[in-house]
Amino acid sequence: MKRSLLLTMALLLLGTMAFANGQAADDGKIVVGFAQIKEDSPWRTTETNSVQQEAERLGIELKLSVTDQAGQIAALRDFIAQGVDGILLAPQTRSGWDEVLQEAKDANIPVVLLDRGLDAPEHLWAAQISSDFAFEGRLAGEWVADRLQGNGKVVELFGDPAADPAILRSEGFMEIISQYPGIEVVESKTGEWSQDKGRQVVEAWLAAGVEFDLVYAHNDGMALGAIDALKAAGKKPGQEVLIISVDAIKAAFEAIERGEMNATVECSPLLGPMGFATLMAAMDGQAVDQYIITPDSLYDESNYKDHPTGGF
Ligand code: AHR
Repeated sequence: MKRSLLLTMALLLLGTMAFANGQAADDGKIVVGFAQIKEDSPWRTTETNSVQQEAERLGIELKLSVTDQAGQIAALRDFIAQGVDGILLAPQTRSGWDEVLQEAKDANIPVVLLDRGLDAPEHLWAAQISSDFAFEGRLAGEWVADRLQGNGKVVELFGDPAADPAILRSEGFMEIISQYPGIEVVESKTGEWSQDKGRQVVEAWLAAGVEFDLVYAHNDGMALGAIDALKAAGKKPGQEVLIISVDAIKAAFEAIERGEMNATVECSPLLGPMGFATLMAAMDGQAVDQYIITPDSLYDESNYKDHPTGGF
């Protein structure tokens, strides 16, 4: 290839890169990348909507990517290459983030974690906005100990075993349940945060003759799947088998209303406004709290009508 042609191509490439990196400055718009987890759950859709609505309200250009963890890491690299002003990240699992977060830090792009944490050093990310998952597990554990009056068989449905909320919701729950020798967790398996998967797992337990008095599901989607499986087996969820889960989505409150579910611990997906407020402060070089914890309450048959929005 002739030298002049090579030079022309290099100049064109440089021009394209300069345009991509300077886009935010060119039209004065802030550009934020959001790496969301691909997950079959209404909770996550509500969170995505919350982020999109807030971006629109603030006039921020949002680059949204919805994938598994390998795709999230690739999306972060893509955001960095495009020169975004800030990044929102919902990390699928706790580990594997150090390298890409270091790359964001080197590029001077602050990263705010949405809805769950990770184990990379704290200097690599600006803030984590989430629930206190161990507290949620303890709330569920106290309710279970009370309703079973210290005696009974429990099955547990957790999400991705390497995910922050799965680990901490189990730990918090067991912290309470281990104080009650009459309560036994007879099975514990992943339902991958999904209604369909939760149904399949409970169907398999029932087919194998596993007996249980209560289902503790780490999200409402899996609890609704458990309800489907119990009903298909001719059992009465909410009465013969108690159901408690986490999230407080609208469908869970409807199930409580129908008497098929007993309790849900709130976990807010409405993180868009706090996410952008924190990210923009970090982008501005202001000090931000590294851990911002949203308050959670437990709702059951006695108080579910008190929830301010009737569920998420
Ligand atoms: O990190 C928050 C949790 O993740 C929500 O409880 C759940 O529905 C989601 O998968």
